Amino acid sequence: EEAAVELSDVEVISEDIPGWLVANEGSLTVALDITVSDELRREGIARKLLSHVSYDAQMLGCTTASLEVEDGNEAAIALYAALGFTEAGRRRGYYGAGKDAIVMTAPLPLVLPLDNASPEPTAAEQRAWPLPAPERTAEERAEIERRRLVLAIESSCDETAVAIIDADGKMLANQVSTQIDFHARFGGVVPEIASRKHVEVIVSVVDAALEDAAASLGLEGGAIAPSELAAVGVTQGPGLVGALVVGVAFAKGFAYAAGKPLVCVNHLEGHLFANLLAQPDLKPPFIFTLVSGGHTMLVHVKAWGDYEVLGETLDDAVGEAFDKVAKALGLGYPGGPIISKLAETGNPKAIDFPRALNSRGDYRFSLSGLKTAVTLYIEQETKAGRTIHLPDLAASFEAAVFDVQYKKAKNALHATGCKEYCIGGGVSANPHLREMMIKKLGRQGIRVTVPPLSACTDNAAMIAEVARRKFDRGEISPFDVDADPSMTL
Ligand code: KG4
Ligand code: ZN
Repeated sequence: EEAAVELSDVEVISEDIPGWLVANEGSLTVALDITVSDELRREGIARKLLSHVSYDAQMLGCTTASLEVEDGNEAAIALYAALGFTEAGRRRGYYGAGKDAIVMTAPLPLVLPLDNASPEPTAAEQRAWPLPAPERTAEERAEIERRRLVLAIESSCDETAVAIIDADGKMLANQVSTQIDFHARFGGVVPEIASRKHVEVIVSVVDAALEDAAASLGLEGGAIAPSELAAVGVTQGPGLVGALVVGVAFAKGFAYAAGKPLVCVNHLEGHLFANLLAQPDLKPPFIFTLVSGGHTMLVHVKAWGDYEVLGETLDDAVGEAFDKVAKALGLGYPGGPIISKLAETGNPKAIDFPRALNSRGDYRFSLSGLKTAVTLYIEQETKAGRTIHLPDLAASFEAAVFDVQYKKAKNALHATGCKEYCIGGGVSANPHLREMMIKKLGRQGIRVTVPPLSACTDNAAMIAEVARRKFDRGEISPFDVDADPSMTL
């Protein structure tokens, strides 16, 4: 509270962390509020909490930590000193009359004594491997076997996701743990943070999915055990290499130890197959538009697995353009959802932004010119002292992006004679894009499929759908595969 009065920006780090991020004179400080009950002292709890909080704070961009400790509490002062804290000041009467607080600060990362760096896990933290399958009736066991459960892992960017699908394509679990909060401060995904966060949560996300699958099947004995799965799928690429490696290494170890086959999946194919979750009878040939944070592609899907990429972006991906425009306006990250919300009440014809590479038969995309036009517009208006009408700007920007998407998709449909169209990637969650394609192409007799909203941005359900089909066809990956950050369709 004191910090809130004195300092410019105070923010709760996360619900389960007792600390605040404080922006002060250009540096970020984390303020901690940690107390350990008397009966639990001397078990290293404070040290663990401190190292956890300070680690998260550092990931959020903090450079120092500060705390108050009562003068005379020698045990606590010694602990903090060992972590690198030094006295920075005093608060008189902080803990009541005559009881002063010593203010201590430390640079991040904290000094973690070697003997405490990786403490032995307690008995409660350890699990025997192989995890035993819970007691099941013979019917339950037969049912689980019949379903041929495939567990799939996605970790290509800033989402750690795990889904479990059965042989009929029924999704029994679909867990997504997002790291967006940890990247938002930096205005984009920070690869090192992404990797670390995947490492931290992957075990618990897998556990949660195994529990969900048991619940979906009405099994009362407990979570699905690894031995009860039929296969393990994983995103092999494309994406951030350090993020992919976490999923791939985990999947390999998990599958190998459980004695199950490994199935590697192309993330881009995942975005395509997300459409099958909405329209199971979608069949090639058709035209597919992929619009995500990393990719912009127009694809002629001639058969499953036979893809002709008609055109790609020469510079920014569509999602990236949304993110950059939002950043230029100081609106936050990721930009897509923010801009599409603003655009709801805006006039798409208010500002005439350029449409690039607009000639027939040219399936390439370019978004950097549009991005520059938007930036220039913001500068001009600001200089002229006019307030920018954000909804109009957002709607006009969207219109410029989506007009081009529509036109090229329409041309590709005509040129190939395809009667089906679908779309995928984070930007396909945009309501205006979905509506435009469904309405305008629908009027021309094209059947338009859009993925369920939950399967547009990165998720493991779409990876599970690809893995299930590959597993069905016997397309198993060897255990010496590596993540492939530059995989193409
Ligand atoms: O597919 P995705 O989750 O990650 C990649 O594989 O890249 O896509 C993320 C991108 C971000 O750039 C985000 O701004 C954009 O999708 N996005 C949107 C919307 N929701 C997410 N763009 C426009 N409108 C939206 N509603
Ligand atoms: Zn994606």
